[in-house]
Amino acid sequence: MNTTTLCPWRMQVHHITQETPDVWTLALIDHDFYRWQAGQFALVRIGNSDEVRAYTLSSTPGQSRFITLTIRYIEQGKGSGWLTRQVKPGDYVWLSDPQGSFSCEQHPASHYLLLAAGCGITPVMSMARWLHSHRPETDVHLIYSVRSPRDVIFAAELQALRPWLKLTIIAEQRPEAPMLAGRLSVEILARQVPDIAQRTVMMCGPQPYMDRAESDVRALGAVQVLREQFTAAAPVEVEDNGVRYHLSSASQQLKSAAFPASWSLLAAMEQHKLPVEAVCRAGVCGCCKTRVVSGDYQTSSTVGLTEEEIAAGYVLACSCQPAGDIELA
Ligand code: FES
Repeated sequence: MNTTTLCPWRMQVHHITQETPDVWTLALIDHDFYRWQAGQFALVRIGNSDEVRAYTLSSTPGQSRFITLTIRYIEQGKGSGWLTRQVKPGDYVWLSDPQGSFSCEQHPASHYLLLAAGCGITPVMSMARWLHSHRPETDVHLIYSVRSPRDVIFAAELQALRPWLKLTIIAEQRPEAPMLAGRLSVEILARQVPDIAQRTVMMCGPQPYMDRAESDVRALGAVQVLREQFTAAAPVEVEDNGVRYHLSSASQQLKSAAFPASWSLLAAMEQHKLPVEAVCRAGVCGCCKTRVVSGDYQTSSTVGLTEEEIAAGYVLACSCQPAGDIELA
């Protein structure tokens, strides 16, 4: 599958809004009927290249004239650099079908705890708007972690959703009242969300943030815990036919299972229900990025991986053929 097939939705940029010093929202006009769920993402074709990147659809179905992508500029980031520095109103961008299961529509609950850090607010904001509009009886507490007050994305909208939305903002630097100072911690969670065990927890942010947050919310009794997962970070132990996969899971629970040695790493992970996103299955979209710690394997595509990532053992699971025992991070 090439990027043209993968991203068939042509949308025109209507306007671009700067949200914070390094975050911009692109408002896109959809001339066709594009149906997505709050919290989902899309792959965006980067210029005329063969590369795509995944971005949350930050607008909410039925509530905005435009489909929006809210993007943080990352130094040397090819996708974010193109979208935030080169694309102008009037230009066209190409999107894939909506992707992902990180959506409150797919995980209905009466009580949510939404956790977001930095740009991780984008799917969370989309879901908060949707819940406020379509499920106003829902109890929603959002804890949003930022570097400083000026990094709060959607600040006015978040305030407008109060008091329906229970909102806690944590700023690492120069917090302004009523923000909390520091970082998300088990103490803050216990104090702010005493009924956490009854809530469905949905989180989005950098991987280390989500690792820590998941461990903390589970320690406090949360059972339903969902992460936005553009990339794979899965662990477990699987073996068969002389090929052994040792994948350690975030919870460090190990499991063994069998699968044919000829399978791709992605097929093995999916067979054993390891959390991995796969969209193109052809080494194009980059969604199935996974890190191999040790072992031999061959790859048929490394599209989107940097030299540093390849050197560190990152592979695209759909395009990785293990040649023996391997261990995943
Ligand atoms: S699923 Fe797209 S690169 Fe693997």
